[in-house]
Amino acid sequence: MSEQRDLTFALTKGRLAKQTLSLLSGIGIECTEMEDKDTRKLIFRNEELGLRFFLAKGPDVPTYVEYGAADIGVTGRDVIDEAAKNVYEVLDLGLGKCRMCVCGPESAREALSGRDVIRVATKYPRIAKDYFYTKKHRTVEIIKLNGSIELAPIVGLSEVIVDIVETGSTLRENGLSVLENVCDLSARMIVNQVSMRMENERITDIIKRLKEKI
Ligand code: PRP
Repeated sequence: MSEQRDLTFALTKGRLAKQTLSLLSGIGIECTEMEDKDTRKLIFRNEELGLRFFLAKGPDVPTYVEYGAADIGVTGRDVIDEAAKNVYEVLDLGLGKCRMCVCGPESAREALSGRDVIRVATKYPRIAKDYFYTKKHRTVEIIKLNGSIELAPIVGLSEVIVDIVETGSTLRENGLSVLENVCDLSARMIVNQVSMRMENERITDIIKRLKEKI
């Protein structure tokens, strides 16, 4: 009988990786090698289970999975929707819950509901475009930024922003509010489309056991 190949997981560096590993440990999938904080290794193996794990920046996780460099990935729905890669989204892990919202000063409400073209600053141009163009049939100018999005309406770059709201404290401290809800966010598990066919039994077993645990 031919030896089974390793299944590879791409996890999102930081807090989400820790939460994901703790969830996986709950179904008996451990990776002790990863617990060594001083290690410079990039890829970790659980030989016994035939699994490999690596950490990547969130936006790179769907790329690794689409190309099959990882069979399974875990990252935020925001990142997955924005990347729009050909992968299967198979499970909501319920981790890192937050919301994607249209935010701005209260004074922007009128312009937002009007018909004049307004500027929308965001790190998520695809999600913002889909919300305004497809869902709201509203023409806007999208401005792509890379961080500290809340600055944009404060310094007059845009009327509103589309951004992640978790506790709401960044908005509050900067005199901004949630004006509209775009969607709920949480961490999702994605699977490479070929792996899903070739390794169906092993992958669906992991999904099933995680589902029971969540
Ligand atoms: C995210 C998001 C908001 C903030 C929301 O930014 O873009 O700015 O967190 O969290 P809160 O509602 O709990 O205040 P992040 O810290 O990831 O940095 P960024 O602004 O550079 O994207």
